[in-house]
Amino acid sequence: MNNLTDFLMKHFFAERSFSPLVKISVFLATLIFSFIFIYLIFLNHFSTAEARLILYIFYLIIFYGTFFCGFWPGFLLATICSIPAIKVIGANFLQHGFITASDMEILPFVAFYYLVAIAVDWFRVIIERLKSQLEENKRLNEQTRQMEKLVLAGEIAAGIAHEIRNPLTVVQGYIQLQAAKHKHEQNESATYALILSELKRANQIISEFLNFSRPHQPSKKPIQLTEIIKTTISLMSAESQVRNIEILLQSKELPFINADPGQMIQVFMNLFTNAMQAMPDGGKITVETGYSTEEDQIIIHIHDTGHGIPQESLERIFTPFFTTKDHGTGLGLWMTQAIILAHGGLIDVTSSQQGTTFTVVLPVEQQDILPIFPPN
Ligand SMILES: Nc1ncnc2c1ncn2[C@@H]1O[C@H](COP(=O)(O)OP(=O)(O)OP(=O)(O)O)[C@@H](O)[C@H]1O
Ligand SMILES: [Mg+2]
Repeated sequence: MNNLTDFLMKHFFAERSFSPLVKISVFLATLIFSFIFIYLIFLNHFSTAEARLILYIFYLIIFYGTFFCGFWPGFLLATICSIPAIKVIGANFLQHGFITASDMEILPFVAFYYLVAIAVDWFRVIIERLKSQLEENKRLNEQTRQMEKLVLAGEIAAGIAHEIRNPLTVVQGYIQLQAAKHKHEQNESATYALILSELKRANQIISEFLNFSRPHQPSKKPIQLTEIIKTTISLMSAESQVRNIEILLQSKELPFINADPGQMIQVFMNLFTNAMQAMPDGGKITVETGYSTEEDQIIIHIHDTGHGIPQESLERIFTPFFTTKDHGTGLGLWMTQAIILAHGGLIDVTSSQQGTTFTVVLPVEQQDILPIFPPN
């Protein structure tokens, strides 16, 4: 049954923006109307003038059928609506052996029914193209907005980190002086050693953050993403074994894309690490890669069987410093998104209590995107 519905939706009703429910109800309604009219025509219920009017009403039926349901339902409706005309012409033809002049007037109706189906379908295609162009523009605007936000957040965070490092260095210098002065007092010297080691740790975190928030501009070259994913999986194989996690790659043949291999490894590493951390008792990560010829883009789904992301966190996971982990920085996904945006792509997420799926979309043909990180 499901297969039949899928088949009808794909081949008969075509992939259009209306929901299956709308398509089926409009199709059934138009079908029922046309049958009622045809039935009444056959019963000679209408006068000739009324019957003519009905022939015009058929145009509306075909228009709605094609507009909402696609070309083939429209074509079928045009054929059904032609039945009375064909019946009249056929009967007269059998009787007289030729098509009468009055029948000649009916013939264009039949032709126009099919023309309406074709024209409305064209009209639909044009509208759909315009719509998808508008959506693409919206997506690009949103992408630019996100990039601006990321640049700002990155610059502010890097600025703060930089400014904190200066006073820290001053404090460190003074503590070192004090530690040297009190080096013979056991208690004091242990305290200073502890303060110094904590200061050193803070400094190190800031240095790492500065390196992290200002990665090099992507240096792109043609790469095979499947190879990159395989490399990342093998880099993480020791950890996945310890955590009892299976990483499965279901890969289709992908075209080469221009991307920074190092940054791409970073992307998948972040996503795999998060997935592993969401499965403390083990589980499975499935990576599925595909290529859409229509959109000329590579689509990668990374699905885990972890605890999922609660709805209230879902909107914040790409924001810098958002973390739910004790030792997390909350920069992993922010960074991941930044890299993908710099490659002209998109990252999205869906999640439930049964697991999380990250979807990465990367265009094969990339326009030159402005670097989103300030150059080092
Ligand atoms: N696959 C996932 N399953 C469940 N939660 C996730 C998943 N991926 C991300 N998250 C949530 O998104 C938050 C942000 O992730 P992000 O990678 O940015 O930071 P983090 O992992 O907390 O820290 P870091 O990456 O620095 O270790 C995580 O703290 C977690 O709550
Ligand atoms: Mg992370």
